[in-house]
Amino acid sequence: MPVQLKTLLPLFALFILIFLIARHFLIPDSFGKYGHYRADSMDEIAALPVHYAGKSLCIECHDTEAEMLALDQHAGLSCEICHGPNAKHADDYEVKEFLVKDGSRKFCGRCHSINAARKLENVIQVDIVEHHPEKEKCIDCHNPHAVWEIKE
Ligand code: HEC
Ligand code: HEC
Ligand code: HEC
Ligand code: HEC
Repeated sequence: MPVQLKTLLPLFALFILIFLIARHFLIPDSFGKYGHYRADSMDEIAALPVHYAGKSLCIECHDTEAEMLALDQHAGLSCEICHGPNAKHADDYEVKEFLVKDGSRKFCGRCHSINAARKLENVIQVDIVEHHPEKEKCIDCHNPHAVWEIKE
């Protein structure tokens, strides 16, 4: 055996031993119970507060907007994509401070502004500065729920 190995081998053995001891103490108890992850994390994630109520819940109280939405081009959109996560409002309708009601050029432009990375056949794009600049906001003309209901 080369002479260097006589000092290096015990050192390696020591490192491996330290690694195994550290690993033993650092791995959480529930790791590996179901798979290569910490099983307790599932309960922790499930206990997090819910932020989105979901369209079906919004529809229970807002059938007017829901019916309008269903008949036009925005039928595929969820309510909360525009109004923001609102489980709190769905729980208690008096809680309204988190409801977004933005119909500005910038807001609608999130989906409709010209962007080469977006497929035109999925979302129609307009130049949000040049498109009908005679009115300030998009909702001054388009009804957000029934987009082809153009206001005069
Ligand atoms: C339990 C019934 C109920 C549910 C569920 C509900 N709402 Fe409401 N919502 C109301 C009522 C009632 C009002 C009117 C409150 C008022 O004007 O005082 C309201 C008002 C609103 C408004 C207008 C607020 C304003 O400032 O004028 C928006 C926008 C809205 N809701 C969106 C939603 C969305 C999005 C959801 C689903 C996440 C939802 N609502 C779920 C009952 C509900
Ligand atoms: C494309 C975005 C968008 C989507 C999708 C959308 N809304 Fe709205 N909603 C708006 C905007 C913008 C306003 C504010 C309109 C205004 O100020 O004239 C509004 C207003 C409202 C209001 C208040 C109406 C009033 O007369 O004050 C309610 C209630 C509402 N939305 C419920 C819903 C519900 C329920 C859904 C899903 C079924 C939904 N919205 C989907 C953008 C949207
Ligand atoms: C979350 C993304 C999203 C937001 C936000 C959004 N839209 Fe849309 N919009 C769509 C999709 C998806 C369609 C349906 C596909 C299409 O026809 O382009 C659509 C369709 C439309 C159409 C009809 C286009 C056509 O070809 O008939 C108009 C007009 C429109 N939106 C206006 C608005 C206005 C005004 C706002 C702001 C209040 C808005 N949109 C906000 C995604 C969005
Ligand atoms: C002054 C009224 C007015 C305003 C403000 C307005 N639009 Fe329009 N929009 C129209 C009319 C009218 C049409 C029909 C086609 C045309 O004349 O361009 C239209 C068409 C569209 C279309 C379909 C385009 C196509 O090629 O089929 C989309 C998408 C759209 N608007 C989105 C928006 C968005 C997003 C905003 C805000 C940035 C907005 N509009 C602001 C009146 C308006």
